[in-house]
Amino acid sequence: MSIRIAGTGSYVPEKILTNADLEKLVDTNDEWIKTRTGIAERHIAADDEACSDMAVAAARQALDMAGISASELSAVIVATTTPDHIFPNTASLALDRLGGKGAFCFDLSAACSGFISSLEAAYALMCTRSQYRYALVIGSEKLSIITNWSDRNTCVLFGDGAGAAVLENTADAGPNTILAADFHADGSLGSLLTLPAGGSRQPATAATVAAHLHTIHMEGRETFKHAVNAMTGACRTVLETAGVRAEQLKLVIPHQANIRIIQAVSQRLGVEDARVFCNIAHYGNTSAASIGICLDEAVRGGRLERGDLVLLTSFGSGLTWGAMLLKY
Ligand code: ACO
Repeated sequence: MSIRIAGTGSYVPEKILTNADLEKLVDTNDEWIKTRTGIAERHIAADDEACSDMAVAAARQALDMAGISASELSAVIVATTTPDHIFPNTASLALDRLGGKGAFCFDLSAACSGFISSLEAAYALMCTRSQYRYALVIGSEKLSIITNWSDRNTCVLFGDGAGAAVLENTADAGPNTILAADFHADGSLGSLLTLPAGGSRQPATAATVAAHLHTIHMEGRETFKHAVNAMTGACRTVLETAGVRAEQLKLVIPHQANIRIIQAVSQRLGVEDARVFCNIAHYGNTSAASIGICLDEAVRGGRLERGDLVLLTSFGSGLTWGAMLLKY
């Protein structure tokens, strides 16, 4: 059994919202946003563009690179906090639109940790049963619909997009792509980053809509501290487990939430900026899509070649966090 990443893909919507555009919506400015977050612009989906539309666009590229059709997929996982519907799941809808049928499909909810959590879930399935020859993992988010555009603390941070990867079990005796992984959660800190209403705890009413309770609520400063410590710890664990030193890494791909979080984690790991993938300036935080978009850009941009060691790490609502070491 040898499981590898056979293809990657990504998609961001056409419309760009710049910091200057945000200055017209809330009391903020380009300089604050750039220095405090590293974000210059983000992409915003069209009104009629839903999570599955972006997922399908990213997935098509990943399937093309893998050289397979959707009918060959045996599992599809969509990581998202902004599914088309609560049910049916977005993975089933995406598979249908891609022209496939019958695969094991589910959505995975782990906010920004969703993409690497889904890679881990797909990998675990493939290790357990040989019938999973090809699995498609997608992170897709339309965060613009759960953003409170009158809250400057959060509205400057998020963007829309999708990233995808096809995992293949080649059935050879070769090495696996995923060398080590480490995942955790702490629900006692769930209130730091939450979308309060619309679930069974606080069902949707006219009052919850008026109070913006269907949008992202975040205690930024507290979340920041946990993000740095949690990602650094998970990264150290996977490196130690795999017996790999930070100097051996070709690339670190951290979740793109804030440039200062990315720098704090990479400094603690002893990895210089040149080996840290960063596209936050153009996309902002796309939650579950973020690492998938980075991975695809790294592959297509020639920053990752077969055999390179790459460390993925993420942190998000839950709180959830983790790290994964790949031999690409
Ligand atoms: N423009 C101008 N000023 C602002 C803005 C803005 N957009 N937003 C906040 N400020 C002000 C605040 O009001 C505050 O002013 P005050 O000192 O007068 O009260 C000041 O700037 C500093 O605010 P802080 O919240 O302390 O700013 P901080 O440097 O912590 O940056 C941020 C805020 C960017 C949110 C940061 O804390 C952060 O990135 N947190 C972590 C985000 C994260 O990792 N989330 C997890 C993933 S997301 C997911 O799972 C969906």
